[in-house]
Amino acid sequence: MNAAIDFAAPDRYPALPPPSRRRFSPALVPRPPQGERVTAHDGRRVLLRPISPGDVAAMQRCFRRLSPEDVRRRFLHAMSELPEPMAQRLCNLDPVREAAFVLMDDGVSPAEMRGVGRIYVDEAANSAEFSVLVERDWSRVGLGALLMQRLVDECRRRGLDELWGYVLLENRPMLQLCKELGFTRRLSPDDPGIAQIALLL
Ligand SMILES: CC(C)(COP(=O)(O)OP(=O)(O)OC[C@H]1O[C@@H](n2cnc3c(N)ncnc32)[C@H](O)[C@@H]1OP(=O)(O)O)[C@@H](O)C(=O)NCCC(=O)NCCS
Repeated sequence: MNAAIDFAAPDRYPALPPPSRRRFSPALVPRPPQGERVTAHDGRRVLLRPISPGDVAAMQRCFRRLSPEDVRRRFLHAMSELPEPMAQRLCNLDPVREAAFVLMDDGVSPAEMRGVGRIYVDEAANSAEFSVLVERDWSRVGLGALLMQRLVDECRRRGLDELWGYVLLENRPMLQLCKELGFTRRLSPDDPGIAQIALLL
């Protein structure tokens, strides 16, 4: 026989988390700092800030500088261009379910986007999927690790349990970076060329 549950005695069930609409309420997820100047390992400086709707043109220029290999590694398939509606979508976030940080090089005019890191929150699973990209000429100077750390911080701030992403098995730079950050790797049963990597937060 099932025991009756006394819903009027909430102290008896303290483990239940608050409903997600409360946990993810924009009021409880304050905006990250509006901008922070960071120095890469080679001395070059960029502005790290949340993405904004005004970044569409810079994002499209950044995409045009990417090699086909980097595009495939980031989007997991080939793309010859970044259509404006998609760029608009990537720059206009739902702040409850998404966050994205860009590395802006304002030493040139107009300022150029050198890297982007983003998360998509899955409220049901209390986790987030990430993606990250650093332009080739700006790689190997610590910026990918910096963006990943920022995404980890953002997930922790939101009280998420896990940060995860899909990475092509051939993508040794990303697998190495994730290994150094403590992510673990599991093979994706549906696609033998892709690993799912995850960090418990
Ligand atoms: C993967 C990527 C984000 C790395 O960015 P990055 O700015 O070059 O990374 P960092 O300079 O912070 O490197 C951090 C660590 O990652 C590893 N790493 C980075 N590039 C590497 C490479 N080419 N070969 C081996 N290890 C590499 C190293 O361990 C490195 O530490 P170290 O420089 O002290 O040895 C970047 O190469 C990229 O944007 N690639 C295309 C898009 C992509 O693959 N995205 C990931 C899937 S979402």
